[in-house]
Amino acid sequence: MPALYPGGILPPYMSSENERTLILVKPDGVARGLVGEVVRRFEARGLKLAAMKLINAPRATVERHYEEHRERPFFADVVNYLCSGPIVAIALEGPNAVKAARSMMGATNPADAPSGTIRGDLALSIENNIVHGSADAESAAKELAIWFSDSEYV
Ligand code: PPS
Repeated sequence: MPALYPGGILPPYMSSENERTLILVKPDGVARGLVGEVVRRFEARGLKLAAMKLINAPRATVERHYEEHRERPFFADVVNYLCSGPIVAIALEGPNAVKAARSMMGATNPADAPSGTIRGDLALSIENNIVHGSADAESAAKELAIWFSDSEYV
C-alpha cells in the first residue's frame, strides 16, 4: 500500500510553484464520452498530465478515498456511484494546480456551478457531477497516494 502524507508533511513536488492534484473523471463522465473534453480544458489552462489511467475502481480504494465522508448519509451512494463503471484517474501538475483545477470544475453541486466551469457546462445533479478534484494540497497528497504508485508517474 502506498504511503500517505499525514499531518501537513507534503512530498517535495507539493509547492504551489509545482503542485499536483488528483482528478477523477467519474463513471458518468466516462460513459458520456467526456474524458477528452475534461482533459482538454485542464491542458488548455496549462496543467500537465503527470499520470493517467482508465480503471474499474476497486471498492476498497473508493472507500479509502471517501473515508472522511463515511458517516455522512450519502457515503454508500457516492461509493456505489464511483464503482458503477470505469473511471479515469489523473494526476495533474502545475503552478497552483489544486486551486486552478477546483475553480475550473465549479461547485460540487452542478446547480450552483457557473457556466464556463466543467460542472456548470456539462452536469446537472450532485449525484452525477462528472469530476472529482482534490480540495487542498494536503488532500491532494493523500488522494494521489491512494490512486497512484510512484512508478505510475511519467
Ligand atoms: S466537498 O467538495 O468535499 O465539500 O463536497 P461535499 O458536499 O462534502 O461532498 C463530498 C462528496 O460526496 C458527493 N456527494 C454526493 N454524492 C451522492 N449523493 C449526494 N447526495 C451527495 N452529496 C455529496 C460529492 O459529489 C462529493 O464528491 P467529490 O468526488 O468529492 O466531488
